[in-house]
Amino acid sequence: MSEWFETLDGVLDQVWSRLSRGVADRRAPARQPTFATISPHGWPEARTVVLRRAERAEAVLKVFTDLGSGKIASLRAAPLAALHVWEPSPRLQIRVQAEVEILSGDAVAERWDHLTPEGRTSYGCVPPTGTPIGEALAYEKTSDQAAFAVLQCRAVSIDAVHLGEVHRRALYRREDGWAGEWLAP
Ligand SMILES: Cc1cc2nc3c(=O)[nH]c(=O)nc-3n(C[C@H](O)[C@H](O)[C@H](O)COP(=O)(O)O)c2cc1C
Repeated sequence: MSEWFETLDGVLDQVWSRLSRGVADRRAPARQPTFATISPHGWPEARTVVLRRAERAEAVLKVFTDLGSGKIASLRAAPLAALHVWEPSPRLQIRVQAEVEILSGDAVAERWDHLTPEGRTSYGCVPPTGTPIGEALAYEKTSDQAAFAVLQCRAVSIDAVHLGEVHRRALYRREDGWAGEWLAP
């Protein structure tokens, strides 16, 4: 029987398995991907986020954020993102390029209802996140439902690199039904 990293299907299965584990397990590396966007001035920008959903059937990843955060302005200018995960144990790098839809208000009311009071404190800040303040603690977290947003990331490509005894790299695209192809790593 072949190892998972020896077939294109096996690598893609491993990618989705790791992403799903990230959602379910706080200690899994894929719990906290790096989420990269393009600033309105064209700068690359990256930050850590929590992966909230990984839906393989639609190839959609979901991240929660504050509507007042800088990444929202970036996504409104260019609704494109990259997510990056390094899984040390299977020695697997996962990179996802995605089109992003910003959902808020009624569309995410049910999700808000399921957040704990502590979880809600991540959404809503006075002054808004990123505003210069005179002292480090001169801000208030407001648990504001109107500030809660879900970034619905529709994957268009997935690049996976496995650093085994030999290195393998595979690229999968939505446009060809995620069939995948090997790339020189
Ligand atoms: C471990 C960790 C998890 C984080 N999770 C999120 C998250 O799920 N959503 C989010 O918007 N910001 C999250 N942040 C904060 C972001 O990294 C970032 O500082 C903030 O969103 C502002 O970024 P922006 O100005 O580029 O929008 C997290 C930070 C850390 C360190």
